[in-house]
Amino acid sequence: MVKHIVIAIDGPSSSGKSTLARELAQALGLRYIDSGAYYRALTWFLMERRINLSDETGIEALLPQLNLEFRYNAATGQCAMFLNGRNVEDSIRQPAVSVRASEVSALPIVRKFITEVLRKAAENTDVVMDGRDIGTVVLPEATVKIFLTADEQVRLQRRLEQLQRQGMQIQEQEIAADLNRRDHQDSRRALAPLRQAPDAIVIDNSHLTRDQQRELVLNLIKEKLNLTNPIYEGNH
Ligand code: DC
Repeated sequence: MVKHIVIAIDGPSSSGKSTLARELAQALGLRYIDSGAYYRALTWFLMERRINLSDETGIEALLPQLNLEFRYNAATGQCAMFLNGRNVEDSIRQPAVSVRASEVSALPIVRKFITEVLRKAAENTDVVMDGRDIGTVVLPEATVKIFLTADEQVRLQRRLEQLQRQGMQIQEQEIAADLNRRDHQDSRRALAPLRQAPDAIVIDNSHLTRDQQRELVLNLIKEKLNLTNPIYEGNH
């Protein structure tokens, strides 16, 4: 049996990372960790306390109070982010948090803190983790690295549908501006910007269905791990 499998999925906002990561976790029995949820939870915590989001010293002082955990609930089959034991999943998915999380995640003290938390969460665990810098910085030794991307228009459409599913009515123009801003911030920041790792497999899923994407990636993983059959069957 292969030990300690790490699958890193990076890519821009709304490229479908979390959908793919969840499906891979399910199919291969890996733990799923959504690294963006950690940046979002920290950002939400700061917003709730009306902390100045560029005050690095003030933020640093608060970090020891934070316990962040992305948990899978076998009963519901859902994952959720817990901040100091409280489920904050709905709060952290608000569009206002998305834009701020992109800003907060550029702060060196925040990157250092979250990177350590993520590495600890992935320690000795078979895991699929998605984000912006997983294959390049957080888990550079990952077994398989995927860089997921899609046309801007396709990503915009996915974001629109996602927000509609959450019951939010937001103008398309506003969502487009938000996506552009985040793309820009996440890929141009000085520390751990969104970047394709040299050994990552690039997948443009603009014209792939979910099933096609999942099968493509599962086959790539099997090839990489030299497997003929999936080793796990959905045990989290
Ligand atoms: O994946 P997401 O949209 O939930 O992430 C929210 C923000 O967090 C995103 O704009 C950039 C930041 N982030 C990051 O800097 N590094 C990661 N590994 C994951 C997310």
